[in-house]
Amino acid sequence: MEYMGIDGLKRTKYCGLFSQDDVGKEVVAMGWIAKQRDLGNLIFIDLRDRTGIVQLAFGDETDRAIFDKASICRSEFVLAAKGIVRERSNKNPDIKTGSIEIFVSELRILSKSDVPPFEISDQNNTNIDLRLRYRYLDLRRGEMQKTLWLRHKIVKAARDYFDDSGFIEIETPMLVKSTPEGARDYLVPSRVHKGKFYALPQSPQLYKQLLMLAGYDRYFQVTRCFRDEDLRADRQPEFTQIDLEMSFVDQNDVMDINEGFIKTVFKNILDIDLKTPFLKMPYDEAMNRFGSDKPDVRFGLELVDLTSGLKSTEFKVFANAAKSGSIRAINFKDGAEKVSRKEIDKLIDFVKTYKAKGLAYSKLLDGKRSSSYEKFLKDEEIAFIDKAVDAQDGDLILIVADSDNRVVFDSLGALRIHLGNKYELFDKDEFAFLWVTEFPLLEYNDEQERYVAKHHPFTSVLDSDVELLETSPEKCRAKAYDLVLNGCELGGGSIRINNRNMQDMMFKALGFSEHEAQEKFGFLLDAFKYGAPPHGGMAYGLDRLVMLMLKKDSIRDVIAFPKVQNAGELMTQCPAQVEKTQLDELNVKIIED
Ligand code: AMO
Ligand code: AMP
Repeated sequence: MEYMGIDGLKRTKYCGLFSQDDVGKEVVAMGWIAKQRDLGNLIFIDLRDRTGIVQLAFGDETDRAIFDKASICRSEFVLAAKGIVRERSNKNPDIKTGSIEIFVSELRILSKSDVPPFEISDQNNTNIDLRLRYRYLDLRRGEMQKTLWLRHKIVKAARDYFDDSGFIEIETPMLVKSTPEGARDYLVPSRVHKGKFYALPQSPQLYKQLLMLAGYDRYFQVTRCFRDEDLRADRQPEFTQIDLEMSFVDQNDVMDINEGFIKTVFKNILDIDLKTPFLKMPYDEAMNRFGSDKPDVRFGLELVDLTSGLKSTEFKVFANAAKSGSIRAINFKDGAEKVSRKEIDKLIDFVKTYKAKGLAYSKLLDGKRSSSYEKFLKDEEIAFIDKAVDAQDGDLILIVADSDNRVVFDSLGALRIHLGNKYELFDKDEFAFLWVTEFPLLEYNDEQERYVAKHHPFTSVLDSDVELLETSPEKCRAKAYDLVLNGCELGGGSIRINNRNMQDMMFKALGFSEHEAQEKFGFLLDAFKYGAPPHGGMAYGLDRLVMLMLKKDSIRDVIAFPKVQNAGELMTQCPAQVEKTQLDELNVKIIED
């Protein structure tokens, strides 16, 4: 068998780095074949590695055996080639090395390749499942290489920034105790402790707080988190956080450090100068104006509350909603012409997916009104709406009414984003940052029929709302903040409770008995007896940061080996069954249904 090694050859440099300066030199290149073109008496091979492509050339002067070897080369073979760099007669200005080629005098096929299941090129639109099944091939594409390279640079910039700012990176455990609240845990059965389970961490939250108690003062970590929740474009069951915590700080200190971080990363990676401080907006304002706690502020289409002027209307749909919920509108300026009747029907279906029962509309065009609610309302009520939304000819008014305010916000908030995307109402190149502050401390959970912590149970109450904690905790606002970028929640955090009494009150508000609180969080409560400094922090979704910076549609595109919709991984086909002996050891039985 022919020798297929690299003994005696040393790679001169990466393929994409050869240049005019190398002309006349004898060099060695190694890589994968991107393309082989056989013109009979000439053969050209594009050799690829992570930096790009260099052309290998074979012609009349090439040794016959080498020429023959080049002629059997196919895409994705791995080669080592030695030769002299020379200027190309046919220059290709589209690639960096397009003015030169290596005229090959020694060629080794280091490894052959079957015909790949898809062409490895950034121009192909191969089905994503096939790409993920052969992810190692997909990862050879220049675009993926560039993405993972930039991801690495972003992480490095993060580490450098936090290191420069006095943070210490400390690893926290991956096998942890399952705690209530938050998303569903991934569980790991214990072999030694039969019937007991570890959980994979949803975040290092408790550990980082304990590190503050331990006096580390400024901690950060780039770490994997696990949450068993439904996948979306910005959600994976395992994802990476840039997580940090600081002692002796208030909310503004945490925000300042983090604005510095974002500014530094954007400057280093994208050479963009961001303006700080970022805009800040209380949660209530975000909901009222945008129907969302993570508003995309690159465009208007703000919500208008019509409830007060319509609560005595005879139109039942509106009157009923006004009693316990609200009636709100969006005025799509100059939208009347853009949105056909048929498209309005689609918008009605769209809001229904957010539990809205309907979508009332008025189209104002050429001095005429076509409206779904005109016949149900009095003239002065119609005039009230027009005035409230500042209606002009050409506008399209869209209204949702519901007895549950959350439905109105959800559906109009989503409709706003839908219209913004569909009608391109914003500048795609803009990066609009926003701190959303003053989140409610608690939120009602319909499934559990009780209040749960909106952020987590260790988040402190806004000083001005402390008195409400015992009487009406649902009205309390928290020292919690999210950083939003272009309508995506990039990160979030809070100032924590560092006082035992306050923590007890919080557990009470959440409906935990003292016994339950002790059982679930005893170690933390105990630790708090021994001198807890004021502390707070936040965590970023690193995948989301990379996705938004590189303008990708999904975090899947910035993760080397992502999961798909059903939380499986197509390449290794996991999750998978395990041996019965493994289950026996763990004392785990599968119940077949
Ligand atoms: P939180 O739960 O808000 O806070 O998470 C912080 C950030 O992590 C990202 N993120 C995700 N990214 C991808 N896939 C997911 N499934 C996913 N879930 C969350 C988001 C989010 O803003 N311990 C607290 C932080 C703190 O209080 O310091 C925490 O985990 O970008
Ligand atoms: P209906 O009484 O269900 O026929 O509704 C009459 C009109 O009211 C419909 O054409 C819709 O435009 C509007 N509508 C119905 N339900 C809602 C709702 N929840 N919010 C806003 N408009 C609604």
